[in-house]
Amino acid sequence: MKLSIFGLGHVGLVYAAGFASIGFHVKGFDIDAEKIRMLNRGRLPMVEPNLMELIDSGTKQQRLVFTDDYHDAVLSSDASFVAVDTPLNEEEELDLGQVISAFRMIGESLRKAGGYHIVVIKSTVPPGTTSGIVRETLEKESGKKAFEDFGLAVNPEFMREAHAVQDFFETDRIVIGANDERSRKVVSEIYASFRCPKLITSFNNAEMIKYASNSFLAMKISFINMIANICERIPGSDVEVVAEGMGLDKRITPSLLKPSLGWGGSCWPKDNKVLLDLARSLGVEAPLVESTLEINEGQPLQAIRMAEEALGPLRGRRVAVLGLAFKANTDDVRGAVSRKVIKHLLERGARVVVYDPVAMDNYRALAESNGKTIEYAESGLECIRDADCVIVVTEWEEFKRITQEDYRRAMKRPVLIDGMRIYDAKRYSEITYRAIGLGPQ
Ligand SMILES: NC(=O)c1ccc[n+]([C@@H]2O[C@H](COP(=O)([O-])OP(=O)(O)OC[C@H]3O[C@@H](n4cnc5c(N)ncnc54)[C@H](O)[C@@H]3O)[C@@H](O)[C@H]2O)c1
Repeated sequence: MKLSIFGLGHVGLVYAAGFASIGFHVKGFDIDAEKIRMLNRGRLPMVEPNLMELIDSGTKQQRLVFTDDYHDAVLSSDASFVAVDTPLNEEEELDLGQVISAFRMIGESLRKAGGYHIVVIKSTVPPGTTSGIVRETLEKESGKKAFEDFGLAVNPEFMREAHAVQDFFETDRIVIGANDERSRKVVSEIYASFRCPKLITSFNNAEMIKYASNSFLAMKISFINMIANICERIPGSDVEVVAEGMGLDKRITPSLLKPSLGWGGSCWPKDNKVLLDLARSLGVEAPLVESTLEINEGQPLQAIRMAEEALGPLRGRRVAVLGLAFKANTDDVRGAVSRKVIKHLLERGARVVVYDPVAMDNYRALAESNGKTIEYAESGLECIRDADCVIVVTEWEEFKRITQEDYRRAMKRPVLIDGMRIYDAKRYSEITYRAIGLGPQ
């Protein structure tokens, strides 16, 4: 079977390379011509461990091709996967523009197609989208009937950036939403070689599983952050030990019980917001989702509060922010906590200097510095030099190697706020060390 992938971003590119590696012939299409040029020159448009090797192997074996011609992508394949983004717009509402544009293109191409073709939506979309706007767009543009002339399925994606290649090969589960027998059968065949539980269900259930999963995962982190904020007020308390004790319970598990300045990224913030809007539009209260978002909104302020407790007003203070990416091993700054921390610092008149091993360019492109300038350092050590305070925002290995002595020597006054709990408090006891969820010791 030959496949085409629409949207070569964090999900689509991994699937294009992954499917090619397990034997499919894949055509990857993206409207971003520069991205196609880069890929055809053997360059990766993002940071994702092991992805370049996978792409190289697919292109060398001539099973993976990148094209800027969507007709060619559809007409030379049997199935088209759509992995375009579904972001929030400026009004913080779901923007289905990329999805609609991709289905228009596929519909147009289906008009010319001869045999059976199946269209699979991998993008995260709310219940009712596939049976509604997706089906309508495809039928209108192609002049053909869904389930008779072409197949349609939903196949939500659960991979984690920075682990995406591993997650492709070792996924926990595959969810397939299909409302007709042939679509169910064809998508199941595509995934036949994957040894994991497969859940085959309706469009709406498949769409809802994705939102419910992301909301639950975010809730787990917001929960431990809430506990962290309580622990901080209790002498001798440490949320890391509390989390360890909780995680030993097999019903809880240690996964995601990691205190921080909040969760970010391109998915959880928008998916929780969309789930909340969906619940409200249906007349249902969703207080857990609301609180999950609320706790997360307040969490970056914990670092600001700690800095103010140690230094007083931040106006004119030099504050170093270590880490811009929303997590380590990616250059993605969409929804990153660093952006909120920096915004709060600038609002208080602090002088901000930042460093990230790979995400500096993406941050510059998205910088929301309210017209105020921030300084970009060349390394972690340069970033902390002469600072009044350092806030660790991203868990990069490079930052874990900065010692107490480095901080003491480089900083104007050594106030270290460990927003990710990357250091052992006992080894940083000779400087002012504050950490999320660590009570007075
Ligand atoms: N990033 C993740 O970790 C992740 C994980 C699971 C699910 N998802 C979901 O998967 C979807 C894709 O997310 P992403 O992070 O890969 O997005 P992304 O922004 O990284 O990539 C989207 C790509 O689609 C391209 N595009 C836009 N319109 C197009 C069109 N009409 N035809 C072809 N290409 C087009 C863009 O140029 C871009 O390269 C979203 O719905 C997201 O919620 C993302």
